[in-house]
Amino acid sequence: MGDWITVEGDAALGEGQVLAADLDGVPVLLVRHQGCVYAMENRCTHDGSEMDGGHVDEAGAFVCPHHGARFALKDGEALCAPAYEPLTMFPVQVEAGCIQLKDERW
Ligand code: FES
Repeated sequence: MGDWITVEGDAALGEGQVLAADLDGVPVLLVRHQGCVYAMENRCTHDGSEMDGGHVDEAGAFVCPHHGARFALKDGEALCAPAYEPLTMFPVQVEAGCIQLKDERW
């Protein structure tokens, strides 16, 4: 099980923002929505593209900028076509002003 890794300062991610970061070589996107921070692998399950430029819609789903697939922030579930598989999500903690993630896949 991985250790917590600092990927960004908490102050760098404002409400509603999406920020690219690196989790020990894995590209991730950080999202702050309604005060909570979420972290997802920056790879759309539709065609594997990075999703820089994506945004959170009014319903609180992350929208891929390429073909409009929507994903739930809480668990990465694909909510509409053209994506059908969930995003990989990472546990998040905010500690001493730092956003920390853990990759529990290995
Ligand atoms: S690459 Fe994300 S919806 Fe197509």
